[in-house]
Amino acid sequence: MAEDTTAYGGAIGATANVEGPSGFDFRGLDVTNTVEASDTGKPAGKSGKGTKGGKGKAAKSAKAAAKAGKSGKPSKGAAGENPAKDAGPLLFRPITLRGLTIRNRIWLPPMDTYSAFAQDGRPTPFHYQHYVSRAMGGFGLIIAEATAVAPEGRISPNDVGLWADWQIDSWKWIVEGIKATGAAAAIQLNHAGRKGSTGSFTVGYERETVPGEAGGWPVVAPSAIPFGGYATPRALSVDEIHGLVGAFAAAAGRAVAAGFQAIEIHAAHGYLISQFLDPLGNERDDEYGGGFEGRTRFLLEVADAIRGVIPDDMPLLVRVSATDWAAGGWDLDQTVALAQLLKAHGVDLVDVSTGGIIAGVTVPVKPDYQVPFSAQVRKRAEVPVTAVGLITKPKQAEKVLAKGKADAVEIGRAALRDPYWPLRAADKLGVPVTEAPYQPQYVRGAY
Ligand SMILES: Cc1cc2nc3c(=O)[nH]c(=O)nc-3n(C[C@H](O)[C@H](O)[C@H](O)COP(=O)(O)O)c2cc1C
Repeated sequence: MAEDTTAYGGAIGATANVEGPSGFDFRGLDVTNTVEASDTGKPAGKSGKGTKGGKGKAAKSAKAAAKAGKSGKPSKGAAGENPAKDAGPLLFRPITLRGLTIRNRIWLPPMDTYSAFAQDGRPTPFHYQHYVSRAMGGFGLIIAEATAVAPEGRISPNDVGLWADWQIDSWKWIVEGIKATGAAAAIQLNHAGRKGSTGSFTVGYERETVPGEAGGWPVVAPSAIPFGGYATPRALSVDEIHGLVGAFAAAAGRAVAAGFQAIEIHAAHGYLISQFLDPLGNERDDEYGGGFEGRTRFLLEVADAIRGVIPDDMPLLVRVSATDWAAGGWDLDQTVALAQLLKAHGVDLVDVSTGGIIAGVTVPVKPDYQVPFSAQVRKRAEVPVTAVGLITKPKQAEKVLAKGKADAVEIGRAALRDPYWPLRAADKLGVPVTEAPYQPQYVRGAY
């Protein structure tokens, strides 16, 4: 068991969503390391280029799969969704969301790297190397880290952003690099709310609020309730909330301009949207608070606004915390009801995490600990989902799909220590080299 004490430590384990080998607490998302643990297909999206070697079997399969699955409804098991490649491990079968066919079901979840060193929200060569090396390692979808829709929406001063047009070009080369490997590129859009202006390895002040002189700012939230020991936020006005809906949409438009093929809304881990959802963090008595309808309004408006500016064939994902692990707070039943609403608002997949919302809760961190939540959301809301959280081994990941508990898995910290996780998994699961997502240049070094 792990205690969820902080800010980005929610779903990762005890300090329940951590980052890194040292058990770094990702602001309440404890990601403590307690466990040790082909494709040449062309993405079918408008801008997907695929690799030069992408003309083989897998590319044909991807094409057929694109034809096969536009319903947005999950099949009983992950198998069977792409009949053209209905053989071999499920992890390596393509999946289609709207007009985008993703070459496999091993995805890189968003992970903040706090590496916008100039504090201007622009990604750096570090980001290029980080994302493109994992795309070369065979991941199907790369979801770029929490990206701020406003300067005050950053988790730390070193977060990346898309709040201005001049930031678009800095993303373009990264997106191009990802796509050139045959992987697909998504980006997570975020506003940190009361968990903003916090420290990182880059700026210091770890687990503290960063003061103004070091690049910090006053934080905002649905209500003036602080998270743990961080600064007390100011409650947003209704006009400001409307402005933030517009900021999410504008950032999504910039993401499209940068070439991203899918957008993920960050509605998890106690950041602004999840603060609105949670009855323990939202004490508003206007239309954005109170009952379920009021608390979900902000997210649904954000989803509608983003849907309104991105192409019809572009998938929209939402990451949720399925529970805040606190009595009287946000829970699975509300998550299922929300997932049903999201589907009706044009959302194509729910990325199911937990925690990070309330400080000091205890999270039962162990392998697969969040999988039951994704399974329930998938089954009860009939929406495609991903599972994440201490999924570290190939057979373990394959089982999640084989049991119909998710449509794709996300490999987080294990991918920080091994960018080639999918290639190793292909070897372990007996996928022939010709079907595994090797770059042509690397085939001679194949397992
Ligand atoms: C360094 C680090 C940064 C993270 N940043 C984010 C983030 O930006 N957005 C997010 O939704 N989750 C973030 N997370 C949570 C991960 O996406 C993932 O859900 C979590 O690590 C559990 O998966 P794992 O056990 O495979 O690592 C982060 C986790 C780590 C370790």
